[in-house]
Amino acid sequence: MARKLILDVDTGTDDAVAIMLAALHPDLELVGVTTVNGNVEVQYCTDNSLRTLDFIGRGDIPVFEGLNRPLTRPDFPIPRAIKKSTGVHGLELPLPAPTSVKQSKAAVEFLIETYRAATEEIVLVPTGPLSNIAAAIALYPKFVDLVPEVVLMGGAHHHGNVTPSAEFNIWADPDASASVFAAGFRKLVCVPLDATHEALVSLADTAAMEALGTPAGIAASRFISRRIHAYDANQPMAERGAAPVHDALCIAYLVDPSVITTDFRHVAVETMGPLTMGRTVVDTNFRGENPPNCHFAFHADRGKFNAMMLETFARTA
Ligand code: BDR
Ligand code: CA
Repeated sequence: MARKLILDVDTGTDDAVAIMLAALHPDLELVGVTTVNGNVEVQYCTDNSLRTLDFIGRGDIPVFEGLNRPLTRPDFPIPRAIKKSTGVHGLELPLPAPTSVKQSKAAVEFLIETYRAATEEIVLVPTGPLSNIAAAIALYPKFVDLVPEVVLMGGAHHHGNVTPSAEFNIWADPDASASVFAAGFRKLVCVPLDATHEALVSLADTAAMEALGTPAGIAASRFISRRIHAYDANQPMAERGAAPVHDALCIAYLVDPSVITTDFRHVAVETMGPLTMGRTVVDTNFRGENPPNCHFAFHADRGKFNAMMLETFARTA
């Protein structure tokens, strides 16, 4: 039976690849997409999610718009002014404008109602700032008990991307992130930069995607090539001509958990340090008092990740 999931996204080139992987993989059933302010303002995240789903023939998957600002940061929503890596995403993804429209229900309402009514497990996969998820917890604390597993892209131990110390998704709404990590979810899997920077996608990989000739292959090639050129220019990886596609790695994990390697540790989010705000503090050596709460991915299998994307993007809806 296909595994159900909800994606909470700030689409964004890598969120779009995650959406396509989730919408087309035969082992998964994408129940809905919720959007949140992040890579771009939320209305663009919604539009980009809709146009991605339409392009691959999955306009039937509902999209719900979420929070247009973080819970607490005073300096948002101006993500493009703050983000250094604007070239990675652009404002609108290079696909035709959507024909489908967002749902009238708000994302947080959809999340709470769906989990309250669920009779089967639905994995929650946030790949943007955690504002919607923290709002759902604040409005309905039992939400935490109803979600069987959270698999989120965010955080870093050995890296930073938006600051020397912090990863963008966690940093963009640090108080929301702190509340999600401290909430007590039954299973919390964190896919940070440590893992995503090992699962690079190269220009040779994007050429193979494009050669598939399918809508998903063509779109993935466009999105990821854009990422590679922006990374080469502004944030070069160990290998030139290659870039991480962070958010899609969460989806790959749902299909094949061996695509990442995790350590079960306590993770908390720094919300105050002027140099470290938004940092995921991982108790790697069990020095703190708190028990582990998070399966934190330190490594990823690049070959498996790329093979899965290529196989899935060969499909049409
Ligand atoms: C994360 O930040 C966003 O720019 C990406 O979509 C990804 O979710 C990587 O730090
Ligand atoms: Ca994202």
